[in-house]
Amino acid sequence: MMKFNESLTFDKTLYKADIRGSMTYAKGLRQLNILSEAELDQIVSGLKQVEQEWDEGKFVIDPKADEDIHTANERRLAELIGSSIGGKLHTGRSRNDQVATDLRLWARDQLADLEVSMKGVLRVCAAKAQSSLPVLMPGYTHLQRAQPVRFSHWLLAHATFIIGDFQRLKGIQDRVSSCPLGCGALAGNPFGIDRDFLASDLGFASVHPNSLAAVADRDFIVEILQWASLLMAHLSRLSEDLILFSTAEFGFVQIADAYSTGSSLMPQKKNPDSLELIRGKAGRVMGQASGFLASLKSLPTSYNKDLQESVEPLLDCVRTVSHCLTIIQGILGSLEINADKMRAALTADMLATDVADYLVLKGVPFRQTHHIAGAVVRKAEENGMSIAELPLEDLKGISPLFDADIAEVFDFERSVEKRSTKGGTSRSSVLAQIAAIESLLSQP
Ligand code: ARG
Repeated sequence: MMKFNESLTFDKTLYKADIRGSMTYAKGLRQLNILSEAELDQIVSGLKQVEQEWDEGKFVIDPKADEDIHTANERRLAELIGSSIGGKLHTGRSRNDQVATDLRLWARDQLADLEVSMKGVLRVCAAKAQSSLPVLMPGYTHLQRAQPVRFSHWLLAHATFIIGDFQRLKGIQDRVSSCPLGCGALAGNPFGIDRDFLASDLGFASVHPNSLAAVADRDFIVEILQWASLLMAHLSRLSEDLILFSTAEFGFVQIADAYSTGSSLMPQKKNPDSLELIRGKAGRVMGQASGFLASLKSLPTSYNKDLQESVEPLLDCVRTVSHCLTIIQGILGSLEINADKMRAALTADMLATDVADYLVLKGVPFRQTHHIAGAVVRKAEENGMSIAELPLEDLKGISPLFDADIAEVFDFERSVEKRSTKGGTSRSSVLAQIAAIESLLSQP
């Protein structure tokens, strides 16, 4: 049962948050005269020593006594400063408000780090989009060649999803910043501890408004797991594109050797393991999100030990996302772009819409122009040539409105530059998207 019940194996990760929470709580007890000034000093210096032992890897776990990080730290504190003083720290406090506080403190710091990592990814996307601005590639729907686009535009499509994740992260950070400390086991604190002080001393934006809820509230963990699931879905889709684009069949990009691996059997192989791992880990994070939500759904009011099941998914998910962001940033930063291959993959049939648009500008309703352009594609197929090679007489045979200026339409650069409204694939539209990312990155 002790092995089954203990959480120190994993919640020792929270040691700094736990010590920080205890220092603040001790200050709160001092304000109530439950601790004297001298006792507070002893507790604070004892806690610092405990922290140092963890920092230096010298903390000796007592497997008989140390169930979790809270009991371990308190046990060690009492050893260091004596239980007559150390034993006062937990006055009015419970591990229930303590763990809820520790998890929020830990999550808050981690989310701040993830924010920095996400900015790093967006910065690389913007820089790469800028440096590859002239590169054109086929744009796809249903994985079928559709219309020419800028490679930058494709990259910024992925960046756009990451911006959404970035903005959602901001929202979660606000909600994490609510302090449960001072709620006790479930009913509140009987000594009149100043919860506003506890919250502000720990840098929280607000106090949690209900003690029964505060000790049971792991919604912020659900939010982080679900946020991470969506972010990982986005990184997985980006990875999937890159895996496909790096095949010999596409050859659009090359993953740097640093992010590829070889085969133990086939000497010629260069495998995109980094991207496959990101794609695979997306499933792992999604599983953690649905797994913990299932643990939460039938819990009776206030604290239940089931809540401990939030800790491992949280720790693992944050570590996984952090690694994936670092790796994808490296992959994108070192990605080789094969502009010639992309250019060679552009075919004139991808300009069929531009042929239809040409007739629109001559006053023909689009539904008809769509039909006519379809006939142009069929005619070219019959003749065994591309639509750009069809003689003008053939085009005139399909619609008398075709003229010599149709030749200008068969130009990929022109097609791309035509799409110059906001969010389009023209140079100016792409530059505006890059500028938007840069302005987001320059915000504090
Ligand atoms: N390790 C526990 C957790 O993570 C700490 C709280 C234990 N509280 C209790 N009443 N048993 O939830």
